[in-house]
Amino acid sequence: MLKLMSHSLQMEGYTVITAMTGAEALDKIHSEQPDLVILDIMLPDTNGIEICRRIRQVLHLGDLPIIILSGQTELSAKIQGLEAGADEYVTKPVDPKEMTVRVKSLLARTQRLRQVMATPIGQRSRRGKVVAMIGAKGGVGTTTLVANLAVGLSMRNFKNVAVELRPYFGTLVRHFGVNPSSTLNDLMEMTPKTISEAQINQRLLPTQQGAQLLAGPQQLKEYREAQPEHVEALLENLVNMAEYVLLDLPHMPSVANRAALRAANTIIIAVEPEPSCVASAQALLELLRAWTISPAIIKFVIVNRMQSVQTISAAELERMLECELLGTVPAAPEMAAVSLTMGSPIIAYAPTSLVASTLQDITGRLVAARAVGVR
Ligand SMILES: Nc1ncnc2c1ncn2[C@@H]1O[C@H](COP(=O)(O)OP(=O)(O)OP(=O)(O)O)[C@@H](O)[C@H]1O
Ligand SMILES: [Mg+2]
Repeated sequence: MLKLMSHSLQMEGYTVITAMTGAEALDKIHSEQPDLVILDIMLPDTNGIEICRRIRQVLHLGDLPIIILSGQTELSAKIQGLEAGADEYVTKPVDPKEMTVRVKSLLARTQRLRQVMATPIGQRSRRGKVVAMIGAKGGVGTTTLVANLAVGLSMRNFKNVAVELRPYFGTLVRHFGVNPSSTLNDLMEMTPKTISEAQINQRLLPTQQGAQLLAGPQQLKEYREAQPEHVEALLENLVNMAEYVLLDLPHMPSVANRAALRAANTIIIAVEPEPSCVASAQALLELLRAWTISPAIIKFVIVNRMQSVQTISAAELERMLECELLGTVPAAPEMAAVSLTMGSPIIAYAPTSLVASTLQDITGRLVAARAVGVR
């Protein structure tokens, strides 16, 4: 059946990945990120209903289309399958031709649904993507990365806002040489319901490089821990205002960070290639798992801040962290320092440098990344 179905789908031009057990299927769904899943119920290790439930609840793939194909024809089995989150329940025997037609129409339906979901009432622009950036440790270069990716996105004509979501002493504005008269903390003092696009707009700082900033607090008297309701209200508005919302998150766990990371479409962890930072990154990944964040949306970037021999290779890091590497930023201490005095991120002031080209590559990969993980 597996071979027959694979063959007829391949004849239609689809790439087919097969699995013989439930465990293998879950692994491959996680690593290969397919566009659609066809599941049998009777599996050697578990049953298809359970796999279906795990796809929805553990992998958090709420909109991955699933067709259950089963020999069980009773109504109760069908109900169970659909209740577990399958989109369709097809009983055997089935003509492979019918299956390919079903696959095609379910893919088209999913596409339409995603478009509808992405367009709010009133034909407004598509909702923006939230990219949360967080350091495995403090001081690894997260804010520098946020500043450069924001400019990288602007260079590609993506409207973006970089938000420094921290309770104290923000440094993002220094990368652009701007001086904020109002910061994020003014919004955090409002009741969440009153945070609106207009209120946010008033506090957005334009920059010469095209990125817009929502600055973190500059002075101690502005110290304020954001509440999850504030973070959610802020992001709900921001996704309607920009194509990309870049979040610069402090590395410590907090309720504000949890809300921000849960709302993210992509999470990028900045990691220094040395053992203690890698251990921190692993602890952070464990925290993200505990917060039930889909592993599929987590990526990482290696940041070298010092010109030393990289102790841990990129491949080794990828294996240790079990997530996708978006790129490696080479050490450029002098350029990093000059960039701060000039108020211009490296990607803009030294566009032909090696650092700038790796930052451009990372931006490109971010933009190309398929949107998986559904809130
Ligand atoms: N590729 C690089 N090469 C050399 N120095 C760098 C590089 N990237 C960043 N730096 C420097 O490292 C320092 C810390 O950077 P940054 O402020 O971006 O880190 P952070 O992770 O945001 O810190 P914090 O945890 O305080 O928010 C800065 O002085 C910055 O100029
Ligand atoms: Mg920072």
